[in-house]
Formats: sequence, structure tokens, C-alpha cells
Amino acid sequence: MKAGGQRITMLTAYDAAMASLFASCEVDILLVGDSLGMVVLGYDSTVPVTMADMLHHAAAVRRGAPGVFVLCDMPFGSYHTGVRDAVINGLRIMKEAGSDAVKLEGGIEMCPVVKGLVEAGVPVMGHIGLTPQTAGQLGGFKVQGKDIEAARRLLAEARALEEAGAFALLIECVPSGLARVISSVVSIPTVGIGAGVDCDGQVLVGHDLLGMYERFQPKFVKHYASLSPLIKAAVAEFSREVRNGSYPDAEHSFADSTDYQRLLQE
Ligand code: KIV
Repeated sequence: MKAGGQRITMLTAYDAAMASLFASCEVDILLVGDSLGMVVLGYDSTVPVTMADMLHHAAAVRRGAPGVFVLCDMPFGSYHTGVRDAVINGLRIMKEAGSDAVKLEGGIEMCPVVKGLVEAGVPVMGHIGLTPQTAGQLGGFKVQGKDIEAARRLLAEARALEEAGAFALLIECVPSGLARVISSVVSIPTVGIGAGVDCDGQVLVGHDLLGMYERFQPKFVKHYASLSPLIKAAVAEFSREVRNGSYPDAEHSFADSTDYQRLLQE
């Protein structure tokens, strides 16, 4: 797609229902992101997310979208204790959840891990720029690569990850010009989030795109729909109708043809 100038679309999904809806809209890649932790599981960060969480949700996404490329995040701690552990966990994601590839965060220090996974047959997307699993070390959720030294480092990381065998790179929260430079220098596709229009593709968190995650809205998020108010109105209406006895009405009930009074008399 990069060679043909076709932009790649990627969205996060965490369950079969959403995966199936997104798959019917011709999304190229479904990412089972570890944003799962914040968006679905109610954590304050992605750090607590476990392998068990990722396997459970990635398998659901696979069932909901059997024909789509499914990419699964390796959770924090699943690739930080050595190449062997990373390979074992990467293989589990492919074998047990049926994912097509994994994504992991980090630059030059992660290259041996990327190499090990790729040699074991696990395709890897790198993730550079803002890396939420280690956001604390980066000074929080901030735009990365703003000065020339930081930009040089990110470019070196992109090159090193390509060299290590990554099939693509996610670039998060960097100035548009830097993402453009990186995308033109590496031959593998780049998928951006908060990285401007010149990446080879774009990714958003599905719940953000649909306007149903209210806790936090970064600048780069565009709401293509506002589902939160619709959901709230529908649920309030349900509660009102249950309380006043107008739901379920005859249309939503099964008709009686038996005299149940007899049950009380027996
Ligand atoms: O986990 C996630 O949702 C991500 C985003 C950057 C798309 O990795």
C-alpha cells in the first residue's frame, strides 16, 4: 500500500461486536490496543494490562472479524524481561488469540526483541514517539521529538527498528514535519496518531472516533460521531419506562393463550 500511495486505515477494537462492525467498513487493520486498559477495563494507564487480558480480547476481535488483519499490542512487562520471554508471549498472541502480528513500544533498546520475534515468525510493528507504557519516563503524555536532538533520536530509532525487521511503525504524538521525514526515510509503512497527515496511514482509538470515551480527549482525536449522549439518552429512557411500567409493552411481550389462574388454584 505504501508503494502504491494508498493510505492505511487502522482502528482499535476490543470485542467481537465492534470488530465485526469495523470490519464491515473496510478498515485495513484492527488493533487490539493495550488502551484496552483505560478504555474498557477502567485503569488509569496501560501499565496494569496483562497477557491474559490481551489474549482474551484479541481472541474476541479475531472471532468478530475473521477476515481482517488483526494486530495485538504486547502488554507492559511481556517483552521487557528478555528476548526469550518476548518470543514466548508473541507466539502465544498468534497461536492462542489468532492475531496476525504484534506491536510493541520502544526504540533502539527493543531491537534485539524485535529481531528475536521476527526470527521466530512473529511479525512486529514498532511504536515510537509517545510510548504510553513508559510515558512517566518521557515526562507524561507530551509531544515527542520537538527539538533537533530528540528528532534525530526518533529518526535513528525508526531506522533501527526497520533494520531489526519491523514490518511497520506506529508513530505517536510527534510534530507533523518529523513524521513526514521519518515516513520518507524508512521503506516500511508508518501509521500515525497525532503525527500529521504525511504518515502512510492513520490510527485512532475506536471509542474516540465514535465519541464514547469521555475521560480524556487529546488534540489529535476527531469525533466522527458523538455516541455518548445517544447512549445516555437511550439508557435514561429505558430506566424511565421500566419505572413507569411502560416497558415492556404488548409489542415486546409474548402473548398469553393459557389460563394461568389455574396454576394458582391447583
Ligand atoms: O493501544 C493503543 O490504542 C495504541 C494507540 C496508539 C492506537 O497503541
